[in-house]
Amino acid sequence: MKPAAAIAAFALLVHAGIASAQAAAPAEPKRMDAGAAVKTCAGTVTDECVVRHFKDTLEASVIRGRLVYQNYCTLCHGKEGKGDGRAARLHTPPPFDLTLSAAPRDYTLQVVRRGGEAMNRGKGMPPWGDQLTDEQVNDILNYLFSIRLHKQAGKG
Ligand code: HEC
Repeated sequence: MKPAAAIAAFALLVHAGIASAQAAAPAEPKRMDAGAAVKTCAGTVTDECVVRHFKDTLEASVIRGRLVYQNYCTLCHGKEGKGDGRAARLHTPPPFDLTLSAAPRDYTLQVVRRGGEAMNRGKGMPPWGDQLTDEQVNDILNYLFSIRLHKQAGKG
């Protein structure tokens, strides 16, 4: 690759990195207007109504993320993310208690996409980047941050 092309490719990578970091960590995620939700959902604010009518909000993303989590992650991390799923005992180190996680968003994103081994962590954590869409991963991250006990400012 010629130097100029290499620089361009690098710039593109950096740009993509920044863009994905921004997309993954919006400074102020759009929040659902509770009053509007009660009105639109005829008083009963169900997950389905939130996802259907307020799909661009953090709340809808968290609901979608919970569904993806239930499909792919509970076997190891457990129903509530405490690392006590049915297959937990098969893994050393054990599946992380995700409610106690304090890892930054971008790191968490990389672990989910690339898996444990690529991040010098336990091999028991599979890579999900080729299985889940970017939107699904983003939704999962919003869900994971919503169940964390130690909330970080601006991280949902
Ligand atoms: C086959 C078992 C298994 C499945 C399924 C699994 N994980 Fe994991 N996961 C692990 C293990 C084991 C670790 C701990 C690795 C370590 O600590 O080195 C881990 C660690 C993690 C971490 C790192 C936590 C931190 O703060 O450092 C995250 C995030 C995570 N998993 C998310 C997920 C998500 C999201 C899914 C579903 C898409 C998922 N995992 C599915 C086994 C699994």
